[in-house]
Amino acid sequence: MSTGEPLLTIDGLSVSLPGPAGPVPVIKQLDLRVDAGEIVGIAGESGSGKSLTALTLLNLLPPGAVVGGSIRFDGQDLLSLDRRGWQGVRGSGISMVFQDSTAALHPMLTIGRQLTEHIRAGLGLGRAAARTRATELLDQMRIPHPDRALRAYPHQFSGGMRQRVAIAIALACRPRLLIADEPTTALDVTVQAGILALLEEQRRESGLAVLFITHDLGVLSALTRRAYIFYAGRVMESGGTADLLTAPAHPYTAALLGARPHGLSAQRTLRAIPGAPVLPDQLLPGCPFEPRCTFAEDSCRSGPPPQVPTTSGRTLACVVAPDLTGEPVVNR
Ligand SMILES: Nc1ncnc2c1ncn2[C@@H]1O[C@H](COP(=O)(O)OP(=O)(O)OP(=O)(O)O)[C@@H](O)[C@H]1O
Ligand SMILES: [Mg+2]
Repeated sequence: MSTGEPLLTIDGLSVSLPGPAGPVPVIKQLDLRVDAGEIVGIAGESGSGKSLTALTLLNLLPPGAVVGGSIRFDGQDLLSLDRRGWQGVRGSGISMVFQDSTAALHPMLTIGRQLTEHIRAGLGLGRAAARTRATELLDQMRIPHPDRALRAYPHQFSGGMRQRVAIAIALACRPRLLIADEPTTALDVTVQAGILALLEEQRRESGLAVLFITHDLGVLSALTRRAYIFYAGRVMESGGTADLLTAPAHPYTAALLGARPHGLSAQRTLRAIPGAPVLPDQLLPGCPFEPRCTFAEDSCRSGPPPQVPTTSGRTLACVVAPDLTGEPVVNR
């Protein structure tokens, strides 16, 4: 990889899925970057395209999906890879902990078999060396008595332990980027805190980069330094997580936080966002959040707002928010 290039650069990504009345655009003009050894967050309501973006990065979209734009990972152009090229990227380049990863474990196979087969295939190790690596991984994931755990079946583990095993499998082939899709949603807060600490430890010790998808703004704040706020397959706002959460500039980020945009008032009462997220096949020509936005003006209905950099190092896709925050927008 050439120096200075981010580990992952997504530029103008679009994804359409086949629908009964033709292709349905679900991801639109999406830009995102992850540097090596960086933990980056993606947050947004259900259906905003978080999982589909992740699946695109592993070429795991449903049949008939059409992808446009560009994705560069570790110096390679992912969208021009053939089957063999993708095999090289999956596992040792990018790996993923799926949204329901405990269901991804085979109930009839021991943890040891699932882990060692993955390691043997990915790292080309023999049986004994793969078992040593498996034991080491379970130990890193703080699973007590790793030797005994390798002989156990998934049902003998708690939900939190199964989740740790799923993370161990994802880390088995030493990926440079781990995509974690809501890996802690079903877990209680102490188990969740343990998993977040493990990811941070892997980042620090092995230079692992993580793209962490979550609904939970508390988790976003605890784990990530930078984040992207998704809505209807677009990035509404991105920037430093602390900035986004303490001084949201986009009305959608503010609504997610139950607060008003920065600079308007100190009101911080929790309020539901009126209306429901727009469905991909019902999108209007303007800003996708416009029908639910308290600050919408006529200009919001004319076309989708471009994602532009602001002076505070964020990007913002809103034509009224700059006026609300008083921050000038560059390139407008
Ligand atoms: N296999 C599929 N076929 C057709 N449409 C799909 C498919 N998977 C997802 N979609 C649609 O694409 C949009 C984005 O879905 P996605 O799963 O990426 O959302 P998400 O942000 O991960 O939501 P959640 O927080 O609920 O996991 C949704 O409108 C969804 O209905
Ligand atoms: Mg999802």
